[in-house]
Amino acid sequence: MNSPVGIDAAAFAGPHACLDLADLAAARGVDPDKFVLGLGQRRMAIASPCEDTVTLAVDAGRRALAAFDIDPAEIGTLIVGTETGVDHSKPVAVYVHELLGLDARCRTFETKHACYGAMAGLTASMDWIAAGRARGRKALVIASDIARYGLGTPGEPTQGAGAVALVVADRPRLLTVDPATIGDYTRQVMDFWRPLYSKVAFADGHYSIQCYLDALVGARADAVGEGAALLDELAACLYHVPFVKMAKKAHQRHLEIERGAPLDRDSDADRQALAASLSSRVEPWLTLNAEIGNIYTGSLFLSLIDLLRQAAERFSGRTVSLFSYGSGCGATFCLGEITGTAAQWASALDPSEDLARRYRLNIEDYERLVRDGEQADTAESLDPTSYGLSDGLFYVGTVDHQRRYVESRAER
Ligand SMILES: CC(C)(COP(=O)(O)OP(=O)(O)OC[C@H]1O[C@@H](n2cnc3c(N)ncnc32)[C@H](O)[C@@H]1OP(=O)(O)O)[C@@H](O)C(=O)NCCC(=O)NCCS
Repeated sequence: MNSPVGIDAAAFAGPHACLDLADLAAARGVDPDKFVLGLGQRRMAIASPCEDTVTLAVDAGRRALAAFDIDPAEIGTLIVGTETGVDHSKPVAVYVHELLGLDARCRTFETKHACYGAMAGLTASMDWIAAGRARGRKALVIASDIARYGLGTPGEPTQGAGAVALVVADRPRLLTVDPATIGDYTRQVMDFWRPLYSKVAFADGHYSIQCYLDALVGARADAVGEGAALLDELAACLYHVPFVKMAKKAHQRHLEIERGAPLDRDSDADRQALAASLSSRVEPWLTLNAEIGNIYTGSLFLSLIDLLRQAAERFSGRTVSLFSYGSGCGATFCLGEITGTAAQWASALDPSEDLARRYRLNIEDYERLVRDGEQADTAESLDPTSYGLSDGLFYVGTVDHQRRYVESRAER
């Protein structure tokens, strides 16, 4: 029998600034409750022009390798899943490969399918290990994205930015994923897209919610069969989180799939059953998503980090479900088991100190970052200090059509 495969290490990295959704609501003349209660979001991480998909991915990758004591030489596959590539041809992953100091024999590529690219990377790396190609090495899968919608559009409060790095290995320390329970779903739909000429995404927002829910039904049926009862054995249900309320809508649909009928909004019993299931299986693991916003490929795995940092000990040996959705659309539903060692890593996984240090933008600064970001790909010279950045890896401009990155260290 093959040894179990799954997630051996994980880390989140995000930009240095954030915007409070109450401030955005005030600037747009919207009731703040619409964003905070209606969408479930408190803040969203905002990237400056010097923070891009590469710098966020490298930051997350370095954190995962360092916190879990993994030598870069152990990595035999690197996959970056992203909607926010920095070049039509050259993958983000190859910059990351150099900046993490990975071996030349490490297979390296980028995956794109809106928010689905990292789940595609996770399952592809599990297959690589199961096929015997890893030869004792591990895979590094990094989800890295900057979610950008136009100013004043319905999508604007569902932006965010950040990266989640996952190390995939056999005998993993955090979560095993059962390959027999991986179910897939694909359908060509125009619910969200970003043409080659646009920095911002276009979305048919309400239709995208329907497409997401249809994909949940389809992928779950492929994973465990249409009529399977699952929820009673699940300690937690993790979903793709473009905004917090979406995960709750998904869970309601999950309940409805199991009972074979829609919940009755006027029934106290139905409302209580939904509230109880949400409060035990879903809501506690959405606190990081509410602070960071939509990070596209990484949002499901951010929710997993939230769960592991809070409840790895309590849920040791328990099964959780994971659902990844990428518009366009592609989806995967699968089951994982929290390992007996996961609790030892709870504090290493916790990004709350970094989140507390973020700089809170006012609306003028936020709009300036958006305007500057539109020109960033062709700017010859960008100064990280003009955005209050002093410590880290930064994008500093494009010279001779080549992107430049520098490491800077603050004077101490
Ligand atoms: C999600 C999205 C469609 C919402 O768009 P919108 O038309 O501006 O917002 P809505 O009118 O639907 O309001 C959103 C929620 O806030 C609620 N709401 C509105 N005003 C409110 C208020 N003052 N107080 C409390 N709740 C409020 C609405 O009832 C709705 O909740 P519901 O869906 O449970 O009914 C939009 O942000 C979007 O297009 N996002 C990008 C695409 C995306 O994230 N898709 C997800 C699937 S991948």
